[in-house]
Amino acid sequence: MGLAWLVAAAVAAVLASWALNVLVYLVWRPYAITRKLRAQGLRGPGYNFFVGNLGEIKRLRADAAGVALDVNDHDFIPMVQPHFRKWIPLYGRTFVYWTGARPTVCMGDVNVVKQVLSDRTGLYPKNLMNPHIARLLGKGLVLTDGEEWKRHRRVVHPAFNMDKIKMMTATMSGCARSMISEWESQLMMGSNKTQVVEVDVSSRFEELTADVISHTAFGSSYVEGKKVFLAQRELQFLAFSTVFDVQVPGFRYLPTEKNLKTWKLDRKASSAPEEQGKTPALMSLDEIIDECKTFFFAGHDTTSHLLTWTSFLLSTHPEWQERLREEVRCEGGDDDDTVARTGDALNKLKLVNMFLLETLRLYAPVSLINRKTSADLEVGGVKVPEGTILTIPIATIHRDKEVWGEDAGEFRPERFENGVARAAKHPNALLSFFEWAQVVHRAELRDGRGKGRGRHDAAAEVLDGAVTQNLMKAIATTRTVTVR
Ligand code: HEM
Repeated sequence: MGLAWLVAAAVAAVLASWALNVLVYLVWRPYAITRKLRAQGLRGPGYNFFVGNLGEIKRLRADAAGVALDVNDHDFIPMVQPHFRKWIPLYGRTFVYWTGARPTVCMGDVNVVKQVLSDRTGLYPKNLMNPHIARLLGKGLVLTDGEEWKRHRRVVHPAFNMDKIKMMTATMSGCARSMISEWESQLMMGSNKTQVVEVDVSSRFEELTADVISHTAFGSSYVEGKKVFLAQRELQFLAFSTVFDVQVPGFRYLPTEKNLKTWKLDRKASSAPEEQGKTPALMSLDEIIDECKTFFFAGHDTTSHLLTWTSFLLSTHPEWQERLREEVRCEGGDDDDTVARTGDALNKLKLVNMFLLETLRLYAPVSLINRKTSADLEVGGVKVPEGTILTIPIATIHRDKEVWGEDAGEFRPERFENGVARAAKHPNALLSFFEWAQVVHRAELRDGRGKGRGRHDAAAEVLDGAVTQNLMKAIATTRTVTVR
């Protein structure tokens, strides 16, 4: 009897201490942090118990979900980031809001973004809080930090060697050409005398970029790896559907419907390659699989979305179609082999590059990225506690009139005429690609001031350039491709 009481008392003590910790985390801490931040002038919407501001974000997004944009209106922020549109005028470019019970600082000021993204000492690591996204990418480059990131980077680096990327141009060009040939056959086959064909470019580009990645990174084709790709894509949709859910610790281990589905898809997407015995010592087989998933995730939707928006903007700007078509013709665009051999011809396509950069600005495939503070740190002149999420609202910054000028909302590739660094009031305002250093590299390249080029954006640019060039050739025919 005495022992039973003792056990019961111990259990009660553990439960009470756990309940107290939960209460401190969900009630006292948000209150104390809000007071400290307000005292330093950092404002924001108030904390709501447990959900923070996630309820309001979901509501604002749901309200905007049915809105259709006019084709000449590029402002999708009210649909994609309506909370930033609402809160920035109220609280300024840098403000605090709550992701559940976690303080989140929105960094809408490019100078503050620079402070965080240019840090190389590990003060602002990536934010791994969402377990669904962590499962989607595992320990691939996108989510790793510090020594682990360096080890992965060492192994993956050779794949981004500029000469290797240039060699891949032939493959990319081939994939694009075979897609265009398909469109042309569709035109030929149609009994339609007006020779008009409707192509759902968005899904075609998704297949195209999956095909390019399959060929260049995995040495197979989209068709061969289709089952794995589809599983990975479904996993991606599931992961992103949870972005605005409160993440409860331990919840990911419960056999909920979503978790069961995620586990099943993950097993499919992680089907091991056949040569299991040949695992190189630098990375385990699981890590290699995670890196493959990362490559597929990072390089697939990003490039296909960019291509879709590029086609859309070409279709709504016929005068630019004409200019780009002319440039492609003049710079040896008819000689497929030149491009296929080295990809060097793509560097000469100045107008095509300007067009792609402006598309990347207004329709950045990655509209937001997150980091977190590894300790109590000063961010934009305000001391924020360890574990604070730092949100960089790329799409919102790309439309900031103070940064890009009064015409920030307009599609004007001319702004990139003198290079990325001179397109806005801040030299590093174009945030579409990830690393600060690489943004600088790209700026140097465009300004003709240096030889460096970020390997990551070089890869994406070569792919987009190769495809856009082929696209321009297709559009150069007298027939019509309707973009929908
Ligand atoms: C238009 C095309 C692309 C855009 C806009 C884009 C954008 C981005 C952004 C914003 C990040 C940073 C994420 C973060 O730090 O939180 C990132 C990371 C990454 N991307 Fe891309 N990406 C594109 C194409 C590609 C392609 C084609 C590949 C490879 C096949 C690729 C591979 C990666 C990798 C490996 C990382 C992680 C890098 C690291 O942390 O070291 N991306 N990308």
